[in-house]
Amino acid sequence: MTIEVKSNEEIVVMRESNRIVAEVLRILVKHIEPGMKTKEMDIIAEQELKKRGAESSFKGYRGYPATICVSINDQIVHGIPGNRVFKEGDIVSLDFGAKYKGFHGDAALTVPVGKVTPEAQRLLDTTRESLEVGIAAAKAGGRLGDISAAIEAYAESKGYSLVREYTGHGIGRKMHEEPQIPNSTQPPYGLPAGTGPVLKKGMTIALEPMLNIGDWHTKVAEDQWTVLTADGSLSAHFEHTIVIDDDHAEVLTKGTYD
Ligand code: MF3
Ligand code: CO
Repeated sequence: MTIEVKSNEEIVVMRESNRIVAEVLRILVKHIEPGMKTKEMDIIAEQELKKRGAESSFKGYRGYPATICVSINDQIVHGIPGNRVFKEGDIVSLDFGAKYKGFHGDAALTVPVGKVTPEAQRLLDTTRESLEVGIAAAKAGGRLGDISAAIEAYAESKGYSLVREYTGHGIGRKMHEEPQIPNSTQPPYGLPAGTGPVLKKGMTIALEPMLNIGDWHTKVAEDQWTVLTADGSLSAHFEHTIVIDDDHAEVLTKGTYD
């Protein structure tokens, strides 16, 4: 496995593509309200991308038909925007990638629609914190498994399960580069602490923990894209693209949320 290390010049461009991702996601979050159709969000994302001279990373990727993924409640990831309408109390994951000057950016967050239950809010907060704990464990000289183990320990300490079958990824000229970034230490992809590739300054990776209130099992809907919790429990997803530095990681999609 070869894990690319980006040059300073490449990192400068990745800051730009990822800043676009963060800006557009912020705009999308501002627009969410009960009664709105998920495909309206997709149209806004497309317009905002165009304004910035960027392209969708998702549209056409393995035949994916839209610019964003919108995943509601028990949907974990890869929900296709369509005629579904946001309802008060929903939790909505927005996942969005942009290609600019040849480099991709990728981020996701989960937000409440209006007032949500305390259980739902706690899931959102913990998922965001799990991502932040993973970022704090990412630094040059560490191992990839240190990130997975940190995310998992935090999520499980709060009583949630971590989705095992979908992972983060390296990112750069391609949206998905090596290595896979497991969010969990468990099979099929998981890496225990102290194992896996050594992290090096200049590696650009996307971390994206998905936490379920129930267990970690997933299923795929008839549309062949939407991933749901097998038990119907709520799920949340947060993602940042980061670059590894000597004693910390820089978040390239900073500003996606406050
Ligand atoms: N953001 C997702 C990821 O990190 C990609 C969405 S899948 C796509 O892998 F098909 F919509 F592109
Ligand atoms: Co991603």
